[in-house]
Amino acid sequence: MTRFNMRTGYVILFLGSILIPFASAHFVLNDTYIGRAFFQGWKWETLDDPTRGRVNYIDQGTAIRQNLSYATDDKFVMRADDYSVVSQSARGRNSVRISSYKAYDESIIVLDLQHMPEGCSTWPAFWSLSQKGPWPHGGEIDIVEGVNLATQNLASLHTTPSCTMPQQRERLQSGHTTSTNCDASVNYNQGCGVSFAKPASYGVPFNEVGGGYFAILRTQKGVSIWFWSRNDPAVPSEIKCPSGLLGDLTPPSIFPTPQWGQPEANFPTGSQCDYDSHFDSHMLMFDLTFCGDWAGADYDSSGCGGTCMDLVNNHPQAFSNAYWEINSLRIYTPV
Ligand SMILES: *[C@@H]1O[C@H](CO)[C@@H](O)[C@H](O)[C@H]1NC(C)=O
Ligand SMILES: *[C@@H]1O[C@H](CO)[C@@H](O)[C@H](O)[C@H]1NC(C)=O
Repeated sequence: MTRFNMRTGYVILFLGSILIPFASAHFVLNDTYIGRAFFQGWKWETLDDPTRGRVNYIDQGTAIRQNLSYATDDKFVMRADDYSVVSQSARGRNSVRISSYKAYDESIIVLDLQHMPEGCSTWPAFWSLSQKGPWPHGGEIDIVEGVNLATQNLASLHTTPSCTMPQQRERLQSGHTTSTNCDASVNYNQGCGVSFAKPASYGVPFNEVGGGYFAILRTQKGVSIWFWSRNDPAVPSEIKCPSGLLGDLTPPSIFPTPQWGQPEANFPTGSQCDYDSHFDSHMLMFDLTFCGDWAGADYDSSGCGGTCMDLVNNHPQAFSNAYWEINSLRIYTPV
């Protein structure tokens, strides 16, 4: 994939430090999901939540009829039911879990997110998962994830055995390493996690400023995740305005530059975690569950009152801000 190009090398040499020191592949826009495009390119999954959440994932038709999935020319919204009381015998509160029909291996993924689900008992995630599986074969990459009243994003990998990450001091990242063994079969499937350092990367503070941008670089060398809050003056222009100049018909191409700064999370692959035996093509996923293995287990220490189950069953108004609002999702693949 990473062919060395003599001419690129020469240009870098010639222009010195003002050019990017990467003589490697470019990534060119492959897919754009904005507004109604989600209804064509994604599947509404209706399975029982594998993480045992108190959720009822509904199909696309039901989601549209109940306005739990909604699109305009430039917005896509998916949310929890915030008006129904849920009976004890029901599977759970209505919500949405979607997966892309297409799968991507090496790629750059840029998510411009206006709002993420927030509040007690919620457990939203934007993540990617091996299309082939079965889980955890082919790997899982959790990009945006948290529970209850969290304000810092946690990114993590879940893999088959023999994949570990270096300690904090050996990683080129701003975030904080929370665990280093990615093997899903140990530590109660905690995976290897990195908690973001920048403010407003998750939950209420994220939403208060109008969200922000997540960029994921995935290559044979590993996975890096960047985050910029909406009003961060350092948002790179190719992230903020990806369509390029007006009238420019060439598809936008990007590669992380020094202007992107240090990623919040870096998961290097190599001797400690062989890329090819742990990762293959991933579909992209958004979901929103309630309680379950993580939000439920952490509920008592979360600062949320009462019980998780009671909140989900009997307090629909607690879910008025439990929604995803996506401005765009772009996938770039190497050329
Ligand atoms: C459906 O949801 C969207 C987004 O939350 C909202 O703007 C719109 O008014 C809703 N439509 C109806 C008919 O309730
Ligand atoms: C887009 O990505 C897919 C992988 O999902 C790849 O097979 C295809 O070649 C890519 N298309 C372009 C134009 O790069």
